[in-house]
Amino acid sequence: MLRSIHIKAALALAATAICLNPAHAATTVIPTTSFSSYSTFESFWAYLYPWGSDHNGSARMVGSSTDHSHIVLASSTLSLIATPTSNAVPPTSTANPNPAIHYASGAIHAKSQITVTSANSYTLSGDFSAPTLRGTWPAFWLTAVNSWPPETDILETKGTNNNWFNTFNTSSIVKSTLVAWPADLSFHTLKAVLTAEPNNADVKIDFYMDNVFQVSQFGQGFVNKPLWLIINLQMEGSSGTPGPTGTTTYKVRNLQVTRSGS
Ligand SMILES: *[C@@H]1O[C@H](CO)[C@@H](O)[C@H](O)[C@H]1NC(C)=O
Ligand SMILES: *[C@@H]1O[C@H](CO)[C@@H](O)[C@H](O)[C@H]1NC(C)=O
Repeated sequence: MLRSIHIKAALALAATAICLNPAHAATTVIPTTSFSSYSTFESFWAYLYPWGSDHNGSARMVGSSTDHSHIVLASSTLSLIATPTSNAVPPTSTANPNPAIHYASGAIHAKSQITVTSANSYTLSGDFSAPTLRGTWPAFWLTAVNSWPPETDILETKGTNNNWFNTFNTSSIVKSTLVAWPADLSFHTLKAVLTAEPNNADVKIDFYMDNVFQVSQFGQGFVNKPLWLIINLQMEGSSGTPGPTGTTTYKVRNLQVTRSGS
């Protein structure tokens, strides 16, 4: 009895020591409950892209605290919904390369920026049901707040049954790893762990699908560069044309971002 108490006390002390080590103390940046209600959602996420409604595909993002037609929460699941639109105003995207707008869709970004330093590590994970039809271009990705790149893509399907894990060192020096992605809209778990390399300049990104390690990619000079975390359902662009004539839905649940260290 006494012996077991001593063992318990020793274990408790060991656990305390582990937690006091800043490298091991995990901070929840975005909890798995962030899609449980619009009020919780709005404390962690903002509507559209950080720069507005348009990017390099044919969807213009629509959404606000009073317009949930394309950014929908139900059963703790985020749905981004693209529908064909005609006579968009203005008719072309305001972002390079200014494609014609053919869809209204949804995008959100995390209010907290993500900055990998030599003293921390970030883990991003979630369950994703992503469309794979031609002209559908969903993503879960990190991109530079200041000058681009950094960019690293954890989910990107481009109209085929493949997920693209990408890391950009420059616009032309990019590492892409393609992993089969089923077309049945079933949910699959993706995870990325971002950690500074020993040179305190580059970041290693370890990618997982359904809890199986897939690849490590390396982002040159990504340490100390703030990143936006974005979830969007873009259309056409890199995913081919024409896109679907009906409604397209991209779903995300159990999304979590944690940081260990500072
Ligand atoms: C990007 O830079 C990192 C760090 O130098 C390097 O390890 C990686 O191989 C580079 N990626 C590509 C695609 O060249
Ligand atoms: C669109 O922008 C994304 C994010 O910067 C980039 O990864 C992609 O290469 C661009 N694609 C096209 C077709 O412009």
